[in-house]
Amino acid sequence: MKVDGRLPNLTDGDFRFIRELMVASSGILMADHKRTLVAGRLMPRLRALGLASYAEYVERLNSPAHSQERRLLVDLLTTNETSFFREPAHFEMLGRWVRQRNQCLRLWSAAGSSGQEAFSIAMTLAEHSPYPGWSIIASDISQRVMTQARRAVYPMSQAAQFPPGWLERYCLRGIDASEGLFRMTEPIRERVEFCEINLIQPLPQRLGSFDVIFLRNVLIYFDAQRKRLILGQVLDRLRQGGLLFISHAENVQGLALPLRAVQPSIFERL
Ligand SMILES: C[S@@+](CC[C@H](N)C(=O)[O-])C[C@H]1O[C@@H](n2cnc3c(N)ncnc32)[C@H](O)[C@@H]1O
Repeated sequence: MKVDGRLPNLTDGDFRFIRELMVASSGILMADHKRTLVAGRLMPRLRALGLASYAEYVERLNSPAHSQERRLLVDLLTTNETSFFREPAHFEMLGRWVRQRNQCLRLWSAAGSSGQEAFSIAMTLAEHSPYPGWSIIASDISQRVMTQARRAVYPMSQAAQFPPGWLERYCLRGIDASEGLFRMTEPIRERVEFCEINLIQPLPQRLGSFDVIFLRNVLIYFDAQRKRLILGQVLDRLRQGGLLFISHAENVQGLALPLRAVQPSIFERL
């Protein structure tokens, strides 16, 4: 959209407002160099709303009548990159760990984006758990990715990292209009319950406690204080002897948490 032949400009003040709103609603810190990215991601929304400037968009975000727009902002500005069997060593470890446990297990993919992490966990359990009673909660702050996760439909190219034979065992290949897509099978889908959870807010009581928690590639977005608070409340939901998986790119050093390192980026709850 052009105004007098020029693209709208995201001013310092508008960027500051959006940044503060993001920190307040999601805890996500957006550095100065993210300004072009923010402007680019919001441009289609301005266009859809027929707004001529970011200032008008900020006005809308500011109005109490537009709380849904503030939710949408989080959807637009979160980075939801993920993939099946991302950091494969985690799933190898999970497979070995569950094989030794003939018991009911509850697992949580926290900030799991569009479901690939939760379904990778589900396939690993289906393959390795000697006990049939296991279930997974998959959560994220973004409504958009939760909708994708519930559909459980992905492009065939995303199956490239599957262990041999698992695509055939745990997925249905799309035909006709769905050619080039696959969907997780019903027995896998019904093991996963989806819900929106904002990790910077108190966790819902009904969430319960878990034997395994995946909290990967999300801690990087928070400052040290928030990171400590999030880890504190997440670990309150991890049973003693349970496992916490973070990303190889993250660390929990110096936070004095009740954890024992088992492998790089994998910890046991003390
Ligand atoms: C980069 S993805 C990581 C997905 C997956 N865990 C993985 O490692 O592949 C980060 C996810 O964190 C979510 N997120 C960001 N802030 C959050 C918050 N405050 N509460 C819950 N989820 C959040 C984003 O919506 C995004 O889907």
